[in-house]
Amino acid sequence: MQTYLVGGAVRDELLGLKVKDRDWVVVGATPEQMLARGFTQVGSDFPVFLHPKTREEYALARTERKQGHGYHGFSVYSAPDVTLEEDLLRRDLTINAIARSEQGELTDPFNGQADLEARKLRHVSEAFKEDPLRIMRTARFAARFQPLGFSVCTETMALMHDMVAEGEVEHLVPERVWQEIQRALHEQSPATFFQVLRDCGALAVLIPELSPDADFNAALDALQCIHATEGSTAERLAALFCTLDEPTCTARAKALKAPNDCQQLAWLTVAFIPVIRQLDPAQPDAGTLLELLEKADVWRRPERFSSLTRVLECALGSDDRERLKPLKSAADSAYGVDPKTLMARGFSGKELGQAIRSERLSRITQAVSRPSF
Ligand code: CTP
Repeated sequence: MQTYLVGGAVRDELLGLKVKDRDWVVVGATPEQMLARGFTQVGSDFPVFLHPKTREEYALARTERKQGHGYHGFSVYSAPDVTLEEDLLRRDLTINAIARSEQGELTDPFNGQADLEARKLRHVSEAFKEDPLRIMRTARFAARFQPLGFSVCTETMALMHDMVAEGEVEHLVPERVWQEIQRALHEQSPATFFQVLRDCGALAVLIPELSPDADFNAALDALQCIHATEGSTAERLAALFCTLDEPTCTARAKALKAPNDCQQLAWLTVAFIPVIRQLDPAQPDAGTLLELLEKADVWRRPERFSSLTRVLECALGSDDRERLKPLKSAADSAYGVDPKTLMARGFSGKELGQAIRSERLSRITQAVSRPSF
């Protein structure tokens, strides 16, 4: 039996990057031999084992054939006669299909090293087409390695285009789509992910509302801006969706099965934008500001409000950014209203609620009527 380091670990080593996870492939072994050596089997689909000490993944060399649509429906063949080259052939990109033996010798039948040098993301074989998730993975690697000068090569882009035309992307389940989007939002150049998806036609299936040119560019600008602030996933998604209208944004975030915090921040962002654009920065209406703060539930969710203002900073064009000042000032002044003080003055129940609201309104009115506005 022979063991080889494969996939991302070899790729990242050759690029001089820090290696996170190490995956191994084992050639010439049976599951029984692995178990006898103290490995534990994980997953029922593939023969994958965990090393007894390092807990790293060791997969028996395998071939895969597609049987149905989408990510499911693979028939896996794994036996001691499957060669290393056959296992590398089933992989997505040439840069992910290089193996290193324990003695340090590289096996690179698809010229992954040359593509690393040339900064090219290239599919290994037509088998790429068997897994539509690979479109998203390729876009994600393009986003990760964009600063190093990588791009998707023409042939692979054409292949991805064909896959989209054949309806493969429609078979991806929302959970996998969201997982890839979530990871891509945190890559080095998240905008590149969406550009690649758009270029191959997959964006028109996954998030069709982002397709119009002007909106797309504005969305990517907002995304790059929030990326520069190291924003959370929710902030990044909200920035990406900032050009959508409320119903579209809500429906799309839900269809993608984004977590609740992401869905809510995206919705708040698009609900705020048109109102803020209408605000007169010199004489903002205190009632409107209070309604916005109530909508955002600022008093109970101050952190979410900070996220919201960070996203709005990125989403509003430079002309409209000034209009955020009154909103922030209104929030600062209204935070100061202490329900306990009002309770001590005898308010309770519905009247307490009304008293709190009118106190907040009067503080906001005062704050925004100062000459600085
Ligand atoms: N792989 C593949 N097709 C997929 C998923 C994985 O061909 N749909 C192969 C690739 O060879 C990949 C390896 O399995 O390099 C390991 O997959 P994974 O751990 O998901 O990716 P990495 O390349 O290690 O990338 P990351 O740095 O994101 O973990």
